[in-house]
Amino acid sequence: MNKLINIAIDGPSGSGKSTLASMIAAHYGFIYIDTGAMYRTVGLYIQRKGFASDDKEAIVSVLPEINIDMVLMNGKGVVTLDGVPVGDEIRTPKSSMYASDVSKIPEVRAFLLDLQRDIAKRRSTVMDGRDIGTVILPDAQVKLFLIADDTVRAHRRYMELLEKGEKVTEEEVLSDMRRRDKNDSGREVCPAVAAKDAILLDNSGLSAEATFEKAKEIIDGVLAK
Ligand code: DC
Repeated sequence: MNKLINIAIDGPSGSGKSTLASMIAAHYGFIYIDTGAMYRTVGLYIQRKGFASDDKEAIVSVLPEINIDMVLMNGKGVVTLDGVPVGDEIRTPKSSMYASDVSKIPEVRAFLLDLQRDIAKRRSTVMDGRDIGTVILPDAQVKLFLIADDTVRAHRRYMELLEKGEKVTEEEVLSDMRRRDKNDSGREVCPAVAAKDAILLDNSGLSAEATFEKAKEIIDGVLAK
């Protein structure tokens, strides 16, 4: 099978996109691209600059100086800032809000577009984000839109943050998530909505494995054609 395959996975935060994308990448030998990490890295840069996350003018003015790139490590695209792989500092609740805010700025989206598309032109990829099926890879052979109840998503995110030693309550995670959902899906540019040809997968009551099995059935069906 040498055909270039692109799989787009979109959906709100905590819907299990990265877990599913990692499992798909491992199973099919595809490259996993986490586009949220790119927005988070821009957010981190802006945070380090001391700018407010909604200071559009200041943010746009420093975009040319942001040296963001991606290197491939163990089948995953790892985002680098000034050549250094970014770590968990892009995953804190504050960084999440910064990422959500900067992602509303059209210039930021345009700035990251080529970086997101380039690799998918050369390698079979599974890419997750908010606008992958609608804007970044409109020709992807498989488009999945993952959804889950916000309480389920908040619980998953809370457990992840606990594991990383973050001091947050589940209520805080849920209210942050609701604010972010509104920010991401209510915005004018590239709102997080499913592409017309995306397959909706509600995994509220499903384990990661069960979600993967459903996705695998869909993908295998497309690959067999
Ligand atoms: O997937 P994530 O939670 O790591 O994404 C962080 C933020 O970046 C999210 O609030 C919305 C934004 N984002 C986006 O606007 N478009 C993408 N393709 C990926 C993420």
